[in-house]
Amino acid sequence: MAKLKWGMIGGGEGSQIGPAHRLGAQADGLFEFAAAALDHRPEQGRAFAQELGVSADRAYGDWREMLQAETARPDRVDLVTIATPNSTHFEITKAFLEAGFNVLCEKPMTMTVEEGEEIVRVAEASGRICAVNYCYSAYPMIRLARAMVREGEIGKVRLVVTNFSHGHHGDATDADNPRVRWRYDPAMAGVSGQFADCGIHALHMASFVCDDHVKSLSADFASTIPSRELEDDAMVNFRMAGGTVGRLWTSSVAIGRQHGFDIQIFGETGGLRWMSEQPNQLIYTPVGGRTQIIEKGEGGIHEEAQRLSRVAVAHPEGFPLAVANIYCDLADAIRGETRDGLPGAEDGVRSMAAVHAAVESAKGEGAWTDARPPMFR
Ligand code: NAI
Repeated sequence: MAKLKWGMIGGGEGSQIGPAHRLGAQADGLFEFAAAALDHRPEQGRAFAQELGVSADRAYGDWREMLQAETARPDRVDLVTIATPNSTHFEITKAFLEAGFNVLCEKPMTMTVEEGEEIVRVAEASGRICAVNYCYSAYPMIRLARAMVREGEIGKVRLVVTNFSHGHHGDATDADNPRVRWRYDPAMAGVSGQFADCGIHALHMASFVCDDHVKSLSADFASTIPSRELEDDAMVNFRMAGGTVGRLWTSSVAIGRQHGFDIQIFGETGGLRWMSEQPNQLIYTPVGGRTQIIEKGEGGIHEEAQRLSRVAVAHPEGFPLAVANIYCDLADAIRGETRDGLPGAEDGVRSMAAVHAAVESAKGEGAWTDARPPMFR
């Protein structure tokens, strides 16, 4: 089967997420890296793209040049990944969808709920795919957890508890480092700091595994380092449309936690637990029974988890291959297959609505607030 052509915007040399996309898109031989506008500095972007094997005529200096040139080509890219800073996602995603490209946008998809709703409408009108990189939902054992919930293996879900907490911004003497400071500055980051950055991964994960939507929430935000205008710690209680009770903690000052992204799902007849630092394992306890560890790659595992595993049982795959799973689903979707589980524009706007609801709730001393985008109320 011919490879699909792939283009990337942002993710230049030294960026945090760029390498995970390049590994992910190319891991399974599904995409050829054909075009790029990688950097806000045009010359560096062109040079780095060529170093990575993109031909000189498709190593662009900026995304508008890429949009114009790729639109005119008969062999235009099949998919564009947008891995630039948050405030640029809306404009670039909208422009590429309107020109008829499939898009994978980094989270958060937009800065406002209105922009998010517009992306949903533009994607629908264009008939193109607009995926959002909630890549943690593509770990095989998370897909297994979702399948087990759907198939009733833990009964109706009563409670979901999730946290995404690290301590990498916990050093007050480093708070003025420009790479850290912008994240807590509303002029650069928008209305929310830690919740919009990491909390939305956890909230998306809760919705994904429970196969439900967040309806309302109550939030408590704190800036534990007083020079920070935006929150570096948040506790959010939420309710899902189907009645599940949700608890979420996110923090960037939790010194000692490295990448503490965990989820527990408590149903009427059993419980499930997953931790991102041990992503090969899903822990399952049936009511009244023994706790079991289900390993990625073990015999007889659900087809949905098997499909997205590549190496033998107990061999780690990890984050870049979770991103690769998003690209596998995208390749199938571009070729016309329906892929349940690929996060899309609806997930993007639901996250934005939850971020804005949490900000409003936190300002109102935790008042319960509708967390649904107006278009889905
Ligand atoms: P970064 O600051 O490390 O890199 C951003 C890159 O984009 C740089 O190479 C920069 O030159 C380039 N860039 C900036 N403006 C551009 C423009 N107008 N045109 C072309 N290139 C441009 O940022 P990082 O941490 O890689 O984050 C990028 C995005 O990825 C953010 O939206 C972030 O939220 C998201 N992200 C998602 C993760 C996930 O787990 N899904 C993890 C980390 C980041």
